[in-house]
Amino acid sequence: MPVKLHGTMFINPAGHLEIGGCDTVQLAREFGTPLWVMDENYIRQQCRLFKKAFIDNLGGDAAYASKAFLTQAMAAIIKEEGLSLDVVSGGELFTALQAGFPARRIYFHGNNKSREELKMAIQSHVGKIVVDNFYELTLLEEIIQEIGDEPVPVMLRIAPGVEAHTHEYVQTGQEDTKFGFSLASGQALEAGKRVLKSELLTLKGIHCHIGSQIFETDSFAAAAEIMIDFIAQMYKKTGYLIGELNLGGGFGIYYSKGDTPKTIEEYAENIISAATEYAERYGVPVPRIIVEPGRSIVGPAGTTLYTVGSYKEIPGIRKYISVDGGMTDNIRTALYGAVYEGIIANKALHEPEEIVTIAGKCCESGDILIKDISLPRVEPGDILAITCTGAYGYTMASNYNRLPRPAVVLVRDGQADIIVRRETYEDLLRQEVLPRRLRG
Ligand SMILES: Cc1ncc(COP(=O)(O)O)c(C=O)c1O
Repeated sequence: MPVKLHGTMFINPAGHLEIGGCDTVQLAREFGTPLWVMDENYIRQQCRLFKKAFIDNLGGDAAYASKAFLTQAMAAIIKEEGLSLDVVSGGELFTALQAGFPARRIYFHGNNKSREELKMAIQSHVGKIVVDNFYELTLLEEIIQEIGDEPVPVMLRIAPGVEAHTHEYVQTGQEDTKFGFSLASGQALEAGKRVLKSELLTLKGIHCHIGSQIFETDSFAAAAEIMIDFIAQMYKKTGYLIGELNLGGGFGIYYSKGDTPKTIEEYAENIISAATEYAERYGVPVPRIIVEPGRSIVGPAGTTLYTVGSYKEIPGIRKYISVDGGMTDNIRTALYGAVYEGIIANKALHEPEEIVTIAGKCCESGDILIKDISLPRVEPGDILAITCTGAYGYTMASNYNRLPRPAVVLVRDGQADIIVRRETYEDLLRQEVLPRRLRG
């Protein structure tokens, strides 16, 4: 009998980890390691939950935050599932457009969009540009004047002074962040008035993003209150009713023990009831709610497969097990102490026997993937699967130590398709130029 883990993750009768109907030990053999395995059905299931909760039930919108994981295949899935897309750079925009993603369903973010990026966004008619600062407002107007386009729909990114932490939120009072117009100083109001005066821009809504891995719905409610208060102030001062409120992403997911995410329905219910309560309190209609989930769509869909190599035991202290990837394919542990769980894919039914630390192969002492994990006896050649690596792994990958970036395989119903090829050593040199005078 297969043992069900999460999503389409099972332990099959051979005692191997299986994802999307594919034996991961076979996947490692066929495609090599390190390898990102993305579970297509899980991604689609999450898209459907967000679509139902925020688009179908609330008449709002859900834009997948492509920074979490973007390839052309991913953009195509998001398109098919009927979600919108949040991009933050010309590169993300280009990828989406190349995949045939409808420009009208794209929100373009970023605190330093270049002239070229803004031009590209306007000329491809993206749905909304989320303006971050006064410089961008001026730049946008200059570009629209130059290319003679129709008025561009914009949202204003606002720093609400609320910061969400995993289990709480804090109201920072001061708004020390590089993102968005500050509220307390009156800049947000000034920006709103400026857009209303502009013949080149149309004010569609306001946006904020308060953090990531948020488990408590209080944080979203706190942000909703501040933003709705702002909508009311704008209405009082200008007579203009802002109709859309984008509350960003950050819905928490399970990475490891202790993570207790709410369901998408629970987040949606809490957000809409808070928005309804505050709209009534501040005397404005309930705005159309938009969210931007990233990790909650792709995080648990991804698993990274590694081959175990060397090991080192320091008596009485620690046993290190090294794998063939590391901070180059998953920087999150080194960057902010993220905690993951793992399983030996070819020994998935074996009892735990030892506590080990999983090290990457990079020349950095901090290149540790999992500290103190309980596993069966681990031997060179075993396949270690680290779960919930679908978000911010591939997109933050690097070639540190000249490690070629791993392949990404999309699995579904027993079928495995490469969606990103493994880099080769030749790829590492592809953009290089060796000047003639240095050629021996
Ligand atoms: C503006 C914005 N929206 C959405 C997201 C997605 O966050 P998450 O992946 O935690 O859902 C981020 C993440 O940094 C963000 O900055």
